[in-house]
Parts: sequence; C-alpha cells; structure tokens
Amino acid sequence: MASAVRSQELPVCREGPHGLRVLRASRFPPRWRGARIAAEPPAVSSPQTISLRQAPRRFSSSRLGAMRLLARTARMCGGRGLYRRRHLAPGRFEIRREVVSVPGLAPDLEGLRCVQLSDLHAGPFLGRGDLSAVVEAANALGPDLVFLTGDLITHEWREALVVLDDLGRLTPRLATLAVFGNHDYHGREEGRIVEAYRERGIDFLRNEARRIAVGAATVAVVGLEDLEEGKVVDPAPARAGVQPGDLELVLCHNPAGGPPLARPGCAAVFSGHTHGGQLDLPVLRRQGPSHPGLRLRLGGTTLIVSRGLGSVGLPLRIGAPTDIVLATFTGEGA
Ligand SMILES: [Fe+2]
Repeated sequence: MASAVRSQELPVCREGPHGLRVLRASRFPPRWRGARIAAEPPAVSSPQTISLRQAPRRFSSSRLGAMRLLARTARMCGGRGLYRRRHLAPGRFEIRREVVSVPGLAPDLEGLRCVQLSDLHAGPFLGRGDLSAVVEAANALGPDLVFLTGDLITHEWREALVVLDDLGRLTPRLATLAVFGNHDYHGREEGRIVEAYRERGIDFLRNEARRIAVGAATVAVVGLEDLEEGKVVDPAPARAGVQPGDLELVLCHNPAGGPPLARPGCAAVFSGHTHGGQLDLPVLRRQGPSHPGLRLRLGGTTLIVSRGLGSVGLPLRIGAPTDIVLATFTGEGA
C-alpha cells in the first residue's frame, strides 16, 4: 500500500562551507538534496564519531506571529473538526506496511512488528480524543513495539499532555518508546513531558538505548535528541549500550540523521519531521524541511520516514496523507 520511494544509492558527501557536509545526492528525490549534516572536525572516520547537530531554523517573529494567527483563525473556523474528519478518522490515514529484511536475523525476532506514529502536533488542530481511531488501528496491527518519533506538540509543552489519554491506550507487547522532535523543545520543559509520559508507560530515549529481550535475542532501540533543537546530539554514548548480535533500531526525528547513522548491524532508522511536504505543491516545497521520500536503503540500514499524523500552520494536507507505519522484520530475502 505504501507508495515508497526506494533507492539503492548510498549518499555521497562532500565538505561544504562552514564545516558542514552537504549531501551530494543527485540520485535522491529532489527534496533530500541539500540536507546538511554537521561534521565533527577535523575528520570523520566512522558514523559513531559524527556529530549530527544542525543549526536550528529560525523564523522571524512576524512570520511566527502570522502563522499563529492563521492557525487560531483556522481553528475558530472549525479547523480541528475538519482535520479529524479528513485525516484522522477511520480509513482516512494510510497504514504503510514496510518489510525490512535483515541478514542473519535471530529466529526469535522473525516477524517482529514495530508501529511508528510521528509528528502528532497536538495543538490547534489535534486535541483530546482525536487520535482514538489511530490508536485503535495501531493496536489492531498487533505491534511488539510502538515508536513515537517526535513532534508531539505544536507550540506549548502542555499540548503533549492533551494526547496522553489516547497514547496511554496503546498496547504493544513489549514497549512504547519515544524521542523528541524539534517542536517539543518549546519552553524547554522536556523533563515535565518525560515525567508525565513515563507515568503512562511511555519511555523517552534521550541519547540512550533500551535493550529489550525477545526470547534468546535482543532488540536495542537507540533514541536521539533532535538534530536542530536538542542541546546535545550524541549517538556514541547511546550506541555504547548496543551489544554485538543485537538488532539495532534507531529513532531520530530528523531524517537527515539517516545517512550518518547507517552502519552494519543497524537494521533501521525511523524518522518523521517532513510531513511528506504536508502541502505537497511545487510552489510550497521550499518552505518545508527537505526530505528523502518515504524509504531509503542506506547500505544495510533502511531509513523509514513517516509522513506523520498532525499538521502545522493549516488544518490541511495535500498530496501527503497521514500515516501509521508498520515495519515488519524478517530474515527472509536478506
Ligand atoms: Fe513535525
């Protein structure tokens, strides 16, 4: 069902100005080109030593004010109900089924099912109860793990609490794990969000890994702070918790982290951030974040990019349907 963009090409990087590495990805989909990844001076020897930190995007206060006014007006005109009916009601969001083949996958991990929900953007257009159909659909997929890959909120940290009742009804067999996206740092109250979510059984990974035993095998889920707004983004200590033989899965909100995080043994990187363009019109494409499409093969690592469930600016999506990702891992076909 997924209209996945697939590429067998590895990203090729060159040194750009100001110590940035610029993806020279002529074979990548257009919006992925120009994605910037900060390089650790003086030289990068392996993905583990790369700093992923990116300079935050900063919008002028007038632009931010205009966006908030637009959102407020749209909400007053019934934007939230409209968004729920058009993008969050049963049958209105896509269930993307991605199969990831992993050479030598442990028998106990055959068929491991990971459901990803991204970019909820609770706020003007998504409130309490609006995710009920999404959560029901996610549970019906029988996930072993659920991943929340950032941007829980739109403007205020308290918006993260609004969706907790819905998210608290997720029923994975093993765990629900989350990372922050760039929006989630508004107000710098990440600690309060972590605390509230932990009470509902949802664990945040902040440059750290969680090892989860599945029979005789282990899944190691690594979660990183956001590349733009996280004060420290450091995969090395997070990955120090990954043991040889673990199935390594990485949660990184911004898909620009995919290429430098790819390495042997890392089966998948789960990202969001792009909303699939949200308003996927040629004239607007430069306004949103660059993105590589929905799925990329990076050597032995598969980058999966969710279009997410929420909306920013307007209660509207064009050419970028909301989605839930179901990633199933198999040793077959590897
Ligand atoms: Fe987002």
